[in-house]
Amino acid sequence: MNTAHFLVKSDLKFVDKSTYTWQTPSNIALVKYWGKSNPQIPKNASISFTLNNCHTITTIEFDKKEKGDVVEFDLFFEGKQKDTFKPKIAEFFARIQEYCPYIFEYKMIINSENSFPHSSGIASSASGLSAIARCLMSLENELNSELTEEYINKKASFLARLGSGSASRSIEGPLVVWGNHSEIEGSSDLFGVRFPYKVHTVFENYQDAILLVDKGEKQVSSTVGHNLMHNHPYAENRFTQANENLTKISEILQNGDVKAFVSLVESEALTLHAMMMTSNPYFILMKPNTLEIINRIWEYRNQNDSNICFTLDAGANVHVLYPECEKGAVNQFIENELSQYCQKNHYICDSVGFGAKKM
Ligand code: DP6
Repeated sequence: MNTAHFLVKSDLKFVDKSTYTWQTPSNIALVKYWGKSNPQIPKNASISFTLNNCHTITTIEFDKKEKGDVVEFDLFFEGKQKDTFKPKIAEFFARIQEYCPYIFEYKMIINSENSFPHSSGIASSASGLSAIARCLMSLENELNSELTEEYINKKASFLARLGSGSASRSIEGPLVVWGNHSEIEGSSDLFGVRFPYKVHTVFENYQDAILLVDKGEKQVSSTVGHNLMHNHPYAENRFTQANENLTKISEILQNGDVKAFVSLVESEALTLHAMMMTSNPYFILMKPNTLEIINRIWEYRNQNDSNICFTLDAGANVHVLYPECEKGAVNQFIENELSQYCQKNHYICDSVGFGAKKM
């Protein structure tokens, strides 16, 4: 499948006004996407758990106008006009305009809010951009009722990807692969697909507690971070390793080998940070409390024969992953011992979710 598949080919029946609201989730990568080429093509395949509680809710009001050559929109975040977010969204519209020509026919008023605190250090680009993409696809479906559910989801992920790579994994759930991979049927660099094989029950309703170690703005934007992989001495090996890890995790998810899951997922997280530490310029995005938490998790795992593990985004916060059967004990461990390493003792309990919801 190529990009031509996502061009609008039929005549559209324009309506005067329409409003859609979508709730789309955040996601946490198990095998990480770090490194891309233009236009938003990943250097390796990645896989993530879709989250349930961390999400964005976005409403877009579309008002028909004379067709122009600029995309007109207003943006409100948590009820307040937010012009500082506009350039990123304007760039997104510029990247998708050939696939969504109808955005020139409407004035759009975008209202967005997150379920997680804005300054939590939780990346909101995945849920934020997938929500806009999903609203656009609702409009496209109203203008052309022949679209199938499958096409709508694919194109929503395709559009979201053009806004933010990881957003392509925030349309469906519970596990989504983005990036062409020989072992994952249907996988593509252009959009995310649901993990196509039967997943072992131990990975059902997997838990993710997000420990908010540092709620500040990101030190390194993801665009800058991805670009640092261009002249990185270990880049090619890293991309090969990530694809090999995807083969391995695909087997693990099917056979339920939780011990292998733990070591693969933690190694991926540390490798992501190792790439940042060995780029030029270099960065350390972990904080002392990130390391405290990691050490406490390792101690707890050994002492309790537990399957708790951690993963990291491009920041200091720690995602603690554990099977549902350990929920009671691990939640207590987090509350009693790990929360002291979080800013204002703040953490968010989440679990695996099933993707975008129409409101
Ligand atoms: C470390 O999707 O935020 O979270 O495509 O530039 O928007 P852009 O990057 P982004 O990168 C996410 C990187 C990561 C790993 C991952 O989610 O796979």
